[in-house]
Amino acid sequence: MPTIKTATGPAYSKLLSVAGVRGNRVVDNEEMCTYIDSSDEWIQQRTGIVERRWVDETQTALSMATEAGAKAIERAGLNADEIDAVIISTVSHFKQTPSLAVEVAHGLGLSDPAAYDISAACAGFCYGIGQADAMVRGGLARNVLLIGVEALSMFIDLADRSTAFLFSDGAGAVVVGGSDEPSIGPTVWGSDGSQAPVIDIRSWDSVEKGDIPKITMEGRAVFKWATTAIAEKTHEALAAAGLQPEDLQVFVPHQANNRITDSMLRHLKLPEGVVVARDITHMGNSSAASVPLAMEALLDSGAAKSGDIALTIGFGAGLVYAGQVLRLP
Ligand code: UT7
Repeated sequence: MPTIKTATGPAYSKLLSVAGVRGNRVVDNEEMCTYIDSSDEWIQQRTGIVERRWVDETQTALSMATEAGAKAIERAGLNADEIDAVIISTVSHFKQTPSLAVEVAHGLGLSDPAAYDISAACAGFCYGIGQADAMVRGGLARNVLLIGVEALSMFIDLADRSTAFLFSDGAGAVVVGGSDEPSIGPTVWGSDGSQAPVIDIRSWDSVEKGDIPKITMEGRAVFKWATTAIAEKTHEALAAAGLQPEDLQVFVPHQANNRITDSMLRHLKLPEGVVVARDITHMGNSSAASVPLAMEALLDSGAAKSGDIALTIGFGAGLVYAGQVLRLP
């Protein structure tokens, strides 16, 4: 009987780099309140957002993803031919096919990588870390370029004051490669399709009418789910990595709302001194890009350092969630 050879990779994987690109246009709450009936005070109190970043006329999801990807590869010290796979998480790509990942891989001049998009909304980056980790350790790819990118400003309904102030545009990229030490814990992930209508971008209805599809969201329902069921998942991700809250140096939750982050902190009972990402203040909610952008900001400001142990948790439309413990690059 012939034996089928199977792929094997290194025992561990790690993040080799992180790099981000933000929308060039700064939209503060004052400007936002020229579009919707709201106030700077209300938006800050309810979310922590002071301003958000939108693309300008020179930027697209493709351009931001390509720029972030190029920086991440450079910071990882790798050549184009060492990236074996490109995964992009986005809900902002206008084409059913081909994927944004294929276009980005081509733009970056990568040589024949596997390339595909995943649709897991605000959990997409953490879903992607789970996939990249498994791909590297399983021998499917030496190095994976993972990018979360959104240009959500195009999908915002400025007639809907309950959601319009939240969303923003940016790209965050990491390279995941082999490691001598355990550096990425197991990914805790899942979904609850019974809550599919809670956050929605209904494409085809709008396209038939000639409109760009718009985001709809039942904010209170998402808020409740995130602060109960998903807060519980942060404990599961820690436990899966064999760690306690006091082992953490950094907490990087999806930047959806500072009040959700506060509630998760109470749930986790993190010790004083754990650095908590608050990138939402000047960025808004950039969905799949929010976790890597927040990571990069903490490293750039010196609030966190390379090698710190961080807990991530992403959650959003689906509803879906994913999180894991990882060492910052
Ligand atoms: O990233 C994907 C995952 N998404 C999320 O995690 C979002 C989760 N949800 C949230 O972050 C919050 O639900 C929001 C920030 C979206 C909204 O905050 P909220 O505290 O849940 O507000 P609400 O919808 O319960 O509205 C409270 C009040 C209402 O008035 P009444 O009924 O109490 O009189 C709204 O009509 O605030 C009113 N309101 C506003 N007032 C001023 C709603 N939107 C606005 C507004 N400005 N923009």
